[in-house]
Amino acid sequence: MYMESMIRNIALAESGHKKIQWVERYMPALNAIGEKLRKDQTFKDKVVCVSVHLEAKTAYLAKVLHEAGARVIVTGSNPLSTQDDIAAALVEDGLTVYAWYGATDEEYFQFLNKSLDHHPHIIIDDGGDQVNLLHTTRQDAMENLLGGTEETTTGVVRLRGLDKDGLLKFPMVAANDSYCKYLFDNRYGTGQSTWDGIMRTTNLTVVGKKVVIAGYGWCGRGCAMRAKGLGAHVIVTEVDPIKAIEAVFDGFEVMPMAEAAKIGDIFVTLTGDKDIIRGEHIKNMKDGVLLANAGHFDVEINKPELEALAVRSFEARHNIQGYELANGHIINLLAEGRLVNLAAGDGHPAEIMDLSFAIQALAAKYILEHHQELENHVHVLPHEVDIEVAKIKLQSMGYAIDTLTAEQKAYLHLD
Ligand code: NAI
Repeated sequence: MYMESMIRNIALAESGHKKIQWVERYMPALNAIGEKLRKDQTFKDKVVCVSVHLEAKTAYLAKVLHEAGARVIVTGSNPLSTQDDIAAALVEDGLTVYAWYGATDEEYFQFLNKSLDHHPHIIIDDGGDQVNLLHTTRQDAMENLLGGTEETTTGVVRLRGLDKDGLLKFPMVAANDSYCKYLFDNRYGTGQSTWDGIMRTTNLTVVGKKVVIAGYGWCGRGCAMRAKGLGAHVIVTEVDPIKAIEAVFDGFEVMPMAEAAKIGDIFVTLTGDKDIIRGEHIKNMKDGVLLANAGHFDVEINKPELEALAVRSFEARHNIQGYELANGHIINLLAEGRLVNLAAGDGHPAEIMDLSFAIQALAAKYILEHHQELENHVHVLPHEVDIEVAKIKLQSMGYAIDTLTAEQKAYLHLD
């Protein structure tokens, strides 16, 4: 098994095991669901390819699937978010891993291809690269495929594009679109971990700063909310007039990026779109600004235009690249413009990923049990799955709630 895997260093496993054990304690919903999956050996003899940011919570999901009978093959979903000690721990536990921190683009796709060589029954994708390969150069790896699940908004956007054009070749569950995923992961998870990544990387204050949040979707509103809590003056940029009104009513300033660029101290992009911060904005920025991205791909800050404007570039601090412009201003880019919470931090808190990965585990089970009736489209899990996960989570947090009486159900026209 060691021979099959491609990781940096198996000797790092002990540190990885500790990190995984730590998060396990804070993932009660996945624990409860995992217990049943293990007992039933739900995934017996099935090959599951997991391509998700390889840190401790992902590792724990992979272990649960492995212990539930699957042969699990793990790769990362971003070159900078793989933690080498976690990869080593998984290999020691008998999983096959192809991933290391700082993979080149070529290595990253080599790893994805190697994982697809195992001809999966189920894929768990994050961002859509795995699905894209299966639709282009690796159609041969589809022979056993029953379907898959997608973790994030950008991946779901790509899937819906394929679906709309009638090109999707197998059913995919948009795990991202379950309430127990996006309401908590995208909002509270990104909200906390983005600031964790920025603060631990820079060791600078947020209080008193003008923070520009690009995109007021689920991630953006979480990030804006936490910036406000940290004492920042928050400015939001948007293209959707409804989201812009929400931002105003939530107490934030709203303006175009061209205006925000002149006054911001810290910029965070969370749109899933490209070229949000471009050369024309960078030229007008103040000296010493911080640029960070928390959207899935490193295309939100236009790096080629930043590089073209720079007269000099240097490593300002680990994971921070400084770019000096002709006017002497320094523009600091965090984590190469890759998602700052994962490339410069440990990702979302375990309690949040508990919900996301409980959904993922049940989504994989759903594919297994329903693939015959699922057409080659993007599907959302039935609402009962959300309710099941939410109930376990709420109980684990020590909260009880009321239940509807028969009279109330009738009054509300519910069955
Ligand atoms: P969303 O669809 O809820 O929000 C995106 C927002 O950006 C929308 O309101 C949209 O109108 C706005 N937007 C689009 N183009 C824009 C532009 N040019 N200028 C300003 N605003 C623009 O999406 P969500 O769930 O908030 O996800 C955003 C990104 O974050 C995606 O790439 C997603 O995959 C990623 N993500 C990252 C996570 C992380 O751990 N860093 C966690 C979850 C999602």
